[in-house]
Amino acid sequence: MFDLKSYLKAVRDPVDERLQHYLTVESPVTRVSQAMTYSVMAGGKRLRPVLCFAAAETVGGSRETVFPLACALEFIHTYSLIHDDLPAMDNDDKRRGKPTCHVQFDEATAILAGDALLTLAFEILAAAGTRCGLEEQRRWLLAIAQIASAAGFKGMIEGQMRDMAFEGKVISKGELESLHRLKTGKMIQISVSTGALLSGASKRQQQVLHTYAENIGLAFQVADDILNVKGDPERLGKSTGTDQIRGKNTYPSLLGLSGAESFAGQLVNNALKALDAFDNKADSLRAIARYVVERNR
Ligand code: IPE
Ligand code: IPE
Ligand code: MG
Ligand code: MG
Repeated sequence: MFDLKSYLKAVRDPVDERLQHYLTVESPVTRVSQAMTYSVMAGGKRLRPVLCFAAAETVGGSRETVFPLACALEFIHTYSLIHDDLPAMDNDDKRRGKPTCHVQFDEATAILAGDALLTLAFEILAAAGTRCGLEEQRRWLLAIAQIASAAGFKGMIEGQMRDMAFEGKVISKGELESLHRLKTGKMIQISVSTGALLSGASKRQQQVLHTYAENIGLAFQVADDILNVKGDPERLGKSTGTDQIRGKNTYPSLLGLSGAESFAGQLVNNALKALDAFDNKADSLRAIARYVVERNR
């Protein structure tokens, strides 16, 4: 039986070390760098790096090749959390068990720290693409374009826009699904897809992993919605009950808690089914799929 707990633990320390390295190497300590480091090093599950490693290993790639990618994804994710918490957005004061960036520093610093994390991610990605052969360079460029698209106005940004625009409004199941796929699903999907791409995955492997990742990406946000209702704020490191207060459209608000839970379970089953094409090399991805809905933080 695959031991996910040890796998997650074994990934966390080296990822944290590398994130810290990127934040400090040849860089002066400034107020904005302190704010960036504060939010990145506050913790977090590092799920996107974990997915990227697991996808690489599933197709026979190495962790070292995708390390810059794993860190860039975590920087983009952390930027999105800093901005998501701002007063103009979800107005949250707790994140990763600590005061949010704008509470600890100030709003302008939090905005700029987010901007700087986003640009740092692309600096790291582009630099990594210059340190390899021609075929690998092509893969890095493709990955960079895909990540930019997933994080941008055709992906996460549009999801965030809809999340706010629909506050207090009744939307259909289809509209909620596309909102969640955009705001959270795309970045999770791209963590798997680019991890595989940079590891030389075949077209067929990429297709299978795409199906897996789309399903767990949506399931992840359904679980986030469920945890906002019934999670323990201490364990989560953020406040609960806030979606209802803000009139957010969520799966529990649309389907009820048990409806949301069974939908999440269905998505995980779809993801697991896609992985039938792989042998036990995909056990890490299988365990992560289950974890996405069983997690309590
Ligand atoms: C929370 O993401 C925000 C969403 C995209 C749903 P995570 O649950 O991965 O947050 P951290 O990184 O562990 O703090
Ligand atoms: C966050 O979604 C999504 C992004 C940061 C892109 P939510 O607003 O639902 O997540 P939490 O509950 O604040 O972590
Ligand atoms: Mg939000
Ligand atoms: Mg939020």
